[in-house]
Amino acid sequence: MLETNALPAAAADPADAGLQRVDVLIRERLASDVALIEQISAYIIGAGGKRIRPRLVLLFSEALGFDGDERHELAAIVEFIHTATLLHDDVVDESALRRGRATANAVFGNAASVLVGDFLYSRAFQMMVSVNRMRVLEVLADATNVIAEGEVLQLLNMHDPDVSVESYLRVIRYKTAKLFEASARLGAVLGGADAPLEEACAEFGRSLGTAFQLVDDLLDYDGHADELGKNIGDDLREGKPTLPLLLAMERAGDADRQLIRQAIEHGQLERLPEILGIVRRSGALDATRQAAESEAAKARALLDALPPSRARDALLDLCVRSVHRSS
Ligand code: IPE
Ligand code: IPE
Ligand code: MG
Ligand code: MG
Repeated sequence: MLETNALPAAAADPADAGLQRVDVLIRERLASDVALIEQISAYIIGAGGKRIRPRLVLLFSEALGFDGDERHELAAIVEFIHTATLLHDDVVDESALRRGRATANAVFGNAASVLVGDFLYSRAFQMMVSVNRMRVLEVLADATNVIAEGEVLQLLNMHDPDVSVESYLRVIRYKTAKLFEASARLGAVLGGADAPLEEACAEFGRSLGTAFQLVDDLLDYDGHADELGKNIGDDLREGKPTLPLLLAMERAGDADRQLIRQAIEHGQLERLPEILGIVRRSGALDATRQAAESEAAKARALLDALPPSRARDALLDLCVRSVHRSS
């Protein structure tokens, strides 16, 4: 049985029934003759996850009146792509905890995680071909390519305390917001949206995804591993210059700024409590949350382009819950 961790205070959502169908499809599509592939894929997918990206596909297609079965296939595809990026990301980030479990790389090793990530990516492409729509292929080929660019750009920013906020925002737009954008856009494509409406849906995804990653970066300093299902402090350990640190450096005095610079340069997890204190006192966490709120507000405003419906209400709700979350 797959567990799906609900976002906090989730009301009954019109996508819930569709998501159950998506989970069944996901299990079917994981089939492989190679036992280790099924084992590792089931290990990470069975651990749950919030299923936000498939939810976007289902809610946008429903908001635009599409109820064909392709929506489940596309929703499963975006979750496969997401899962592949998580398998790869945990290797790159040397993370030990994901979805409340030891990461696949910790249990099965880096090589197996990378290779099964590749399996999920390529399975997603097989599924896309089966949908047989050039526009769908185009959207997802672009998205996966941009996600890879985002991860490489982030690698270049590692251990660099002089990264600009602009460069940081570009990384999160590429590595995270792009798949939210693609998911929303696919819902719009299925719903037969005209070009301006499709763009509004895509922009919604971009803004929500940006807000979502801003909160993820905040929770890496201010969250709790037991709720988050991931260890906190991973970003600092790795010397990842995320917005909480960039803003704290802008606001801190010379000595504190120096300490943060060194932490980014050398990735000093043992100084997390000290750095957290500086980040908190500087107001950088609040400012990061405000940046997320303002992206989520942009997303909410874009929903005016959709006709009123239960699905639109659920999308509005998702904007709120993506910012006010602890998991
Ligand atoms: C984790 O995404 C990676 C980021 C983009 C921050 P989610 O927080 O959506 O992960 P799951 O699927 O719920 O585990
Ligand atoms: C998001 O970045 C990763 C992807 C988009 C693949 P993070 O590295 O912050 O994600 P978590 O915190 O490990 O989930
Ligand atoms: Mg990571
Ligand atoms: Mg993170």
